[in-house]
Amino acid sequence: MKLSIENIRKFVSDDEIAALKANAEQSLKMLHDKTGEGNDFLGWVNLPSQITESEIDDIQATADKVAKLADFAVVIGIGGSYLGAKAVIEALSHSFVNFKTEKKHPHVIFAGQNISEDYAFELFETLKGHSVAAIVISKSGTTVEPAITFRLIKKYIEDACGIEEARERIVAVTDKARGAMNTIARKNGYKMFVIPDDVGGRFSVLTPVGLLPVAIAGFDIKKLVKGAADMEKATDVNIAFEQNQACIYAAARNALYGKGKNVEILANFNPKLHSLAEWWKQLYGESEGKNGKGIFPASVDFTTDLHSLGQYIQDGKRMLFETVLSVENPKHEFAVPADEENIDGLNFVANKRIDEINKCAEAGTVLAHVDGGVPNIHISVPEISEYSIGQLIYFFEKACGISGYMLGVNPFDQPGVEAYKKNMFRLLGK
Ligand code: PA5
Repeated sequence: MKLSIENIRKFVSDDEIAALKANAEQSLKMLHDKTGEGNDFLGWVNLPSQITESEIDDIQATADKVAKLADFAVVIGIGGSYLGAKAVIEALSHSFVNFKTEKKHPHVIFAGQNISEDYAFELFETLKGHSVAAIVISKSGTTVEPAITFRLIKKYIEDACGIEEARERIVAVTDKARGAMNTIARKNGYKMFVIPDDVGGRFSVLTPVGLLPVAIAGFDIKKLVKGAADMEKATDVNIAFEQNQACIYAAARNALYGKGKNVEILANFNPKLHSLAEWWKQLYGESEGKNGKGIFPASVDFTTDLHSLGQYIQDGKRMLFETVLSVENPKHEFAVPADEENIDGLNFVANKRIDEINKCAEAGTVLAHVDGGVPNIHISVPEISEYSIGQLIYFFEKACGISGYMLGVNPFDQPGVEAYKKNMFRLLGK
């Protein structure tokens, strides 16, 4: 993974970034020494290097069993209990995976991330006649959205296969000792995986929360963890600021925030990365948006959104900066055909790879946005693979922890998410 902040230099001087070095280094140290706020939620910092072979093997064996039993695996969870798995699976999957009739691995469907009656109805309509397994992921077990969906799916599987068979088809990922889901799983004898006490939802993708669904979808979780573990080393506390990409990204963001750039847009030029941006938005939004502070995390899929939000980014209120997530090499080769008639006037790109055109769109966009007053941070990976996604995940997590401490907030709580629940429960007469 490569990080470049060259295109913020027009907006923030080297001295201004250097002035943040001490704060970034101190924040990194606080993560490692566990001396900052929220220090009981730092289990993710050394997670990649501490996952054991036997933990991975247990996850893989369960995934293989689910894959054998079911052609649909319904993954139930919300927020940090689903966004990471969805991000990784979408990044690694064929773009039209749901239209493939011959599949070696189950279709992974996400549910319990909304309270839409139509979504629920249409989910069960879709499952009808198929062999179904469910992975319920909830630390508390009382989060309304997944709890409702779990009730429905438990009944559905038990009605379809009987209670004994349902036991084989339901897996719970939850707290090791407490909570309603822990109780339900023990009472029913479900296979259980633990969400460590010291890992919050949005930092949990490299625990069974993310690894189990990713393995069920057929991807190599060892390579994912290896990518993260290598990034753990590369951003360790003993790596100097100048070489530590997590520190540099965190410092660059905070420098831009100090200049009134209140919105960060994560932009990709590959739609496979759409859900990675959704995961990133939760990570940064929940971690930094508190006490009246924080950069608002937004995202766009380019070039698609150049035909929509592109107008605002180029010309609207100058409160934005952009972080482009770039993929150097696509998986496949595909070129634009030549056409003798050339009625569409497109022969200037005849025989060019589609990716070459995409890269010109990317370079042209960055140039235009920087010229238009939008500072640009550039992150690139050689290709989309388990390894590179693992690197990106850990990089963003580490930079988020550093950035939150630099901003002066506790990056590991989320008091604001309770407000809507209180009102909803009152309205429901709980
Ligand atoms: O990041 C978080 O902590 C939240 O998004 C939680 O993961 C989310 O609210 C789900 O909670 P639970 O796993 O208890 O159902």
